[in-house]
Parts: sequence; C-alpha cells; structure tokens
Amino acid sequence: MNLTARLIACLVALAAVSVNVPALAQAQGPGLPLSLDQLGVLESSSTNNFNTGTTNGFFANLGTNGRTCGTCHVEANAWTFTPLHARLLANNDPLFAPVDGSDCPPMSSNQEPSSANSSMVLKYALIRIQLAIPATANFTLASATNPKGCAIPPGSPAISGELFLFRRPLPSTNLFLLSAAMWDGRETLEKITTQADEQSPAPLLFDLADQANSATTDHAQGAAIVGTQAQQDIVTFETGLSTAQVILVPAVGIALLDFQGANGGANYLQNTVTPAFSIGVNNPLSPPFTNTVFTIYSAWEPTSREYPGLGRIQQAIGRGEAIFNNTTFVVHDVPGINSVPSDPLYNPADPQAGQDVVAGCGLCHNNPNAGNHSTSLPINIGITMAQPTNNNGSANTTLDLANLPIYTLTNSGTGATVQVTDPGRALISGNWMDIGKTKGPILRGLAARAPYFHNGSAKDLSTVVNFYNQRFNIGLTPQQQSDLVTFLEAL
Ligand code: HEC
Ligand code: HEC
Repeated sequence: MNLTARLIACLVALAAVSVNVPALAQAQGPGLPLSLDQLGVLESSSTNNFNTGTTNGFFANLGTNGRTCGTCHVEANAWTFTPLHARLLANNDPLFAPVDGSDCPPMSSNQEPSSANSSMVLKYALIRIQLAIPATANFTLASATNPKGCAIPPGSPAISGELFLFRRPLPSTNLFLLSAAMWDGRETLEKITTQADEQSPAPLLFDLADQANSATTDHAQGAAIVGTQAQQDIVTFETGLSTAQVILVPAVGIALLDFQGANGGANYLQNTVTPAFSIGVNNPLSPPFTNTVFTIYSAWEPTSREYPGLGRIQQAIGRGEAIFNNTTFVVHDVPGINSVPSDPLYNPADPQAGQDVVAGCGLCHNNPNAGNHSTSLPINIGITMAQPTNNNGSANTTLDLANLPIYTLTNSGTGATVQVTDPGRALISGNWMDIGKTKGPILRGLAARAPYFHNGSAKDLSTVVNFYNQRFNIGLTPQQQSDLVTFLEAL
C-alpha cells in the first residue's frame, strides 16, 4: 500500500472501530483488496489482479443449490466465513443448504435452506462434512451421540454409516504455502513438492483442481467440472491470492503493520515469504531447524534498537512475536510426534515416541512467516478428543465442544476404545493410530476469521492461547498471554 491508501484505510478503520461496524461481507466477488475486520484492516493481494477468468469460476454458480466457492470463502473473513457473516444473511441463503449447511441431513431431496436448522453455522461457522469409516479400517464405531437430535443420526445405516464432522472452511488463500490440503489431508492426492520461487507446483495444482471439483459436486451439488475452463479459472484465481492483516486497531491505539520496519500485510507475504517457501524448509525432524519462525516483526521485538521509541501496540506485537519464537515448554503425548505407551493411540513409530520434547510453538507451526507445517505432519494435539487432556493428564477446560457428536471407536485388534468428536486422518487411512490427527493451518489473517481450530471450539485468540497455556503447562503470565494474542492478531 502507498501512504495515501494507508491513511485512507486508517481513517476507515478508525471510523469502523468507533461505531463498531461489523465486518463488511463481500460474498459476490472480490472487491477492494482491503476489507475491515473486527480489529482493523485485512489485506488481500493477487498475482493476477483478482482476475476470475472468463467463467468467473470461483464466484460462478456451478451447482444446483445457488452456492459458489465464495459462499463459504469470503474475502473479508480471510477467505473463510464467520458466524457474524452467517447471521447477516437472509434466512434462506444458499449457505444454509441442508446438504451440509444444516445441523442434520435433509429429510427429503427438496428440503429448502433455512437458517432455523443451522445452529452450527450460525454459532460456530461449521459445515457438516460426512465421511464413513473405511471398510478396511482396523477400528469400528461402537456408538455415536446425537446432540442435535437428528432424525438421521450420525453413523446410521440410512447414510451408510457416515459420521458428521463439523469443520471450519479453511481459508482459500495463501495456498502456495500449503504442505497438505484439507484438515485431514484428504485432498493431498499427489504429495505436494513445491520448491522456492513456486517451482514444482504440479502436485499442488493437481490437488487443488481435484478439490475444486469435489467442492462443486459436494457443497454446490453440481455436475463434475473436471477438465473445464471453470475448474482452471478457480485454481488460477485462488492460488494467486495472499492474505494478511495490514492494520491493527485493538481497543486502544493503532499499528500499521507494514511500516516502521515491520513486514506484515499481504504484499510482503506474496512477494517475499511465498517465493522463499519450499516443502520441508524448516522441519524440526531434520536439521537445520529454527524455532524463530516469525521474523516479520523483528524490528519491533524487545531486542531491537527501535523498540524503546515504538508505540504501545507495536511493542506488544514485538513482545508477542518473541514469545512465539523463544518460549519453550514440554510437549507431552502428541500422536504423530511423541505419543506415549499409556495413550491408546500410542504409535511406537512416532519420531520421538515415548519421549517428552522441549519445544516452542514453532515445533509444529514451523513454516517461516506462514505458521503451518512446512512438511505434511498429521498430528493429534487433543482438539479432536471428546475430552482434551493436558501434559499432566488433567482435563483441558478451555474449549467449547458441547454441541459436537461424540464417537466411541474400538480397536479391532486390542479392543481398546477412544472417544473423539472427529476421527480426522483415520477416516482417510483407516488406521487406528491416525485417529484425531489434523493439520496445523496457516496462521495468517487470523483476526478476520474467528472462531479457531477445525471445530471452531476456541471463540477467540485468547481462548487459543489459554488452551495452549493449559495443554502444555506453559506458565505464561497474563501480560505474556495478552502480548501473544496481539501478535497473532497482527498476522
Ligand atoms: C459449504 C461451504 C463451502 C463451499 C461452498 C466451498 N467450500 Fe471450500 N472448504 C469448506 C470446508 C468446510 C473446508 C474444510 C473441509 C475439510 O478439511 O474437511 C474447505 C476447504 C477448502 C480448501 C482447502 C484449503 C486448505 O488449507 O487445505 C480449499 C482450497 C477450498 N476449500 C476451496 C474451495 C473452492 C475452490 C470452492 C468452490 C468450488 C469451495 N471451496 C467451496 C467449505 C466450503
Ligand atoms: C504440538 C504441535 C503444536 C504446538 C506446539 C502448537 N500448535 Fe498451534 N496448532 C497445532 C495444530 C495441529 C492445530 C490445528 C488443530 C485443529 O484445529 O485440529 C493448531 C492450531 C493453532 C491455531 C488455530 C488456527 C486456526 O486457523 O484455527 C493457532 C492460532 C495456533 N495453533 C497457535 C499456536 C501457538 C501460539 C502456539 C504456542 C503457544 C502453538 N499453536 C503451539 C499444532 C501445534
């Protein structure tokens, strides 16, 4: 942004905050590269000038229920959607289509969309994904709860045993930084091989093309778009996007995030961060590895010369980045990294099986200035469990899981059982040890897209930080928690 644009955006942001205007919804097509969010201004940039192609692909009505990709992937909400966005829609908006926008499966094929049936969309911005346990799986469904009282309950024969998985749409932006596609990696049909300067992108583009087709047939209830211009237009449009917060206006103060030596905002992300990414660039399991994952605010960190002269918000962001990079804690029992023998999901083949690991946030969020995994890494940190537990085995009490179905799964060999709200990766692999594994998403544009985690169980970023503080017994002070939150808001 040039200075004039930045000043205008500032004024708009200030006006929005002072009168508390909700985020602007832009469901029908990309508008300005800047949109207001709850905490300031979110910026999207595009390598192809937001060109949606001759078919208008991403924003075209390609199905039968009136939905487009933009129904669930809204620019102003960092290309996902929020509960607030859903509540501002007409009560028969296609978002509420009963195929997956309602709490329960439709009772007939002509059931109309109605927000009255969509409490999970309105409260948590969750979509109902239905997947069955693979026939070859080494575990079975012992029982399922039905918290919404659906006439067709989860796991029932009427829907071929499919489970209901309530999941947040992942942002359809910053896609060149991905190492896995979808929460459970089920669209990583070809292993992603992206190298620096966006080289070797073929597998990523193949996966996203398949994803676009499945989204059209599933969410939009349309005919397949394999090989069509629309499919190509969708992938070209979405892979050109970069999105990040560019102005932060918390309760008091303002910070321009691409100013005074800082490198927040979408342009730096597009021009510098994305070209530097390659698969495995910072993999904790294969040195060299650094936990200093975020450097966009290094000029604002307490160790910088500039720090004493900065405003309060800038200083808080800098302190928060330093906490993300430098605070270490014990990571205990994370299946996929270091499950322990007493965990029914123990896997002796985990890279650090049975050992506690002293690490920071960057152990998992290791992709430089992006924050997802730089290598595909399905793991279970507890978000998918019916009752997440902390390092010391106590119950983690921070998340709102009350409205999710609980699935009791039995190991076909040992008879062991676990209770989860989402079996995650195991519904793709059929493997007991993959139960509850998800990917860590890209940590950019966070402020515009609460709630967090795949199941929307953390209503805001304070809750996310609170979850981790309990889960790994980190011991962050209230001031440190607040600084970490301010930093996450500035991403
Ligand atoms: C009804 C809402 C809805 C619609 C419509 C929709 N999506 Fe999504 N999208 C989701 C959900 C939910 C997920 C995550 C699902 C999961 O991981 O199981 C997702 C995931 C994605 C991802 C994966 C990103 C990542 O980080 O792995 C991409 C890309 C995407 N969608 C693109 C599209 C495209 C392109 C279209 C239009 C063809 C579309 N979506 C239509 C809800 C929707
Ligand atoms: C052991 C691995 C691990 C560590 C350590 C870890 N995370 Fe995560 N993080 C994940 C995974 C996996 C997810 C996605 C979980 C889900 O939703 O199923 C996630 C999700 C998140 C999200 C939500 C993103 C979204 O789009 O919903 C935020 C924010 C986050 N982590 C911040 C942090 C911070 C801050 C720290 C350090 C205090 C941290 N994480 C430490 C693995 C980790």
